[in-house]
Amino acid sequence: MTQLKASHIQEAAKYIAGRITTKPEVGLILGSGLGILGDYLTDGVTIPYHEIPHFPISTVEGHAGELMIGTLSDRTVVLMRGRFHMYEGYGPELTSFPVRVMKAIGVSKLIVTNAAGGINTNFEPGDLMLISDHINLTGRNPLIGPNEDELGVRFPDMSEAYSGRLRELARNKAEEQGFSVKEGVYIGVLGPSYETPAEIRMMRGMGADAVGMSTVAEVIAARHSDIEVLGISCISNMASGILNQPLSHVEVMETTERVKHRFLDLVNGIIPLL
Ligand code: 6GU
Repeated sequence: MTQLKASHIQEAAKYIAGRITTKPEVGLILGSGLGILGDYLTDGVTIPYHEIPHFPISTVEGHAGELMIGTLSDRTVVLMRGRFHMYEGYGPELTSFPVRVMKAIGVSKLIVTNAAGGINTNFEPGDLMLISDHINLTGRNPLIGPNEDELGVRFPDMSEAYSGRLRELARNKAEEQGFSVKEGVYIGVLGPSYETPAEIRMMRGMGADAVGMSTVAEVIAARHSDIEVLGISCISNMASGILNQPLSHVEVMETTERVKHRFLDLVNGIIPLL
């Protein structure tokens, strides 16, 4: 197991701070197919992950692998285009490392987004779901090991991991924009294989509404760091066994492509309110 080192966070933060002039308070992590939001940043600085000390490098198609700092809807934001997944072989302390670095450069609010499979049969591909809570089914936790007391407490509270306040802002904004968002529980798994129908039935019984391979470790680290979190899942496909068809990454990318405008409007609309 790799151990999270406070000095690594500091070195990465220092490198980024040296390349920017305004301090971001809002962080964004963009999931599969949602990286387009980065195109709307103005006065931006783009830093490829490989230039940042101790940053891992993402390996999935559709994930560019760069950090962008700039203005979005009049706020200074730091945005991750491409994230790290445990199925790539990274431990949870590495997939959540960027969240630690965001905190170190001044972030106090985080919007995490992902593409997820719909488990709730009231959902359909293209729906946006505000994450109300999560179930960590990865069997991993980014806080394993000695606690770094300067980062957060040993036993962080997770009773409101996804801010009710931010969810309400997002719900109202969507309403104002003329569509309604779904809301539900995200269950995080390791991947990279998709689930079996039996696994999906089990997850539904557990109370999960959508399933994906990211987010939970990042949100645990964010809550440990006392960052307020808004989570948005793009339901890119129905999970296994629900429709009579196999799952494919192509479908995930096609659906996110189709709904990205609504997603962009929603995120752009929320940012000034955070
Ligand atoms: Cl159905 N499962 C998982 N684990 N991740 C996904 C997904 C399904 N659809 C998009 N991402």
